[in-house]
Amino acid sequence: MKMKKIILYLLGIVVLLGYGCTQSLKPICSGEIWPDLDGVHINAHGGGLLYYGNKYYWYGEHKCDTTSAAMVGVICYSSKNLTDWKNEGVALAVEDDPHSDITKHCVLERPKVIYNEKTQKFVMWFHLELKGQGYTAARTGLAVSDTPAGPFKFVRSERVNAGKLPFDMTEEQKAVMDTLTEAYYPKAWTPEWIDAVKKGLFLKRDLEGGQMARDMQLFVDDDGKAYHIFASEENNTLQIAALSDDYLSHSGKYVRVAPSGQNEAPALFKRKGKYWMITSGCTGWAPNEARMFSADNIMGPWTQHPNPCIGPNKELTFGGQSTYILKVHGMDDAYIFMADIWRPKHPSDARYIWLPVQFKEDDTPVIEWMDSWTLDYFKKK
Ligand code: DGJ
Repeated sequence: MKMKKIILYLLGIVVLLGYGCTQSLKPICSGEIWPDLDGVHINAHGGGLLYYGNKYYWYGEHKCDTTSAAMVGVICYSSKNLTDWKNEGVALAVEDDPHSDITKHCVLERPKVIYNEKTQKFVMWFHLELKGQGYTAARTGLAVSDTPAGPFKFVRSERVNAGKLPFDMTEEQKAVMDTLTEAYYPKAWTPEWIDAVKKGLFLKRDLEGGQMARDMQLFVDDDGKAYHIFASEENNTLQIAALSDDYLSHSGKYVRVAPSGQNEAPALFKRKGKYWMITSGCTGWAPNEARMFSADNIMGPWTQHPNPCIGPNKELTFGGQSTYILKVHGMDDAYIFMADIWRPKHPSDARYIWLPVQFKEDDTPVIEWMDSWTLDYFKKK
């Protein structure tokens, strides 16, 4: 009888260990359907993650079957292991009020959430296009919550840093920009137009009302300072803007990155004191070749590197567009590149790419397609 009890006990331990292993060994299969814990494909596109209180929170755009416009809002999922995702519901709901900036049918994209240690608030910024105005509004939206999964309360939407010039702009550059007038450059993509864009043609045009802010990212540095990185100046130039200490406004300090380079979908991480940024080109929902930049200071100067993707389909970022780079909590040197495979004809069927970031001997990041991998990849490195 005693022997039977010991065997049962040992069997229990084996089963428990086995369960634990399969949990950590769950494969990440980019491009496939990713069921949440209810068996429903995860609906959190253009997303970003936040690690808080032992859990990851994944925030993203809810997409419908037939339209890319926002009909629901931002959805939040939570997970302890990055593979089992619980649907936490709508974190920020679009509103029925037709006068609200975030009324149903607006375009609400690429939401990101950061936690402010001092105020203990969860702060969400996102790209907002007003209902019925296509992509012309180019605003950023702000929402705040006391709890990670929300509900977030919409605060306002706006253009960015009105009246402010990039803090690193020299007097000479300012003088040149003052001479630029849009009417002199009626045809886009002529060498003269490109030169004028580089010198700040659209920056000057939007100086009074604020800079355009479309595809975006948030980044919190080791010192707690937060930055908003976004496609600006008619998607020609990225801007990196420091947020206020409470993360609820722009401080007025910003720089331009790769003027006239047409970068979208910025995703940032920091490793060994260096900042890395992966972006895409501007081809709507269609994939294109990723770009990569690095800097020793987040405010620049930024240097461009070759496409970080390697192997088959590297010219199209494996069919995806960058959205976030996660530093995995509690694992050494573990970063995951996250991207969206858009399906504009059936938006809710869009898929996710998650791939480990690998590093060459000289520390340059590379990303290689893997049909299937597990988080154990990082332990085996
Ligand atoms: C590319 C952007 O990266 C997406 O977030 C979305 O705005 C599409 N363009 C719309 O065409």
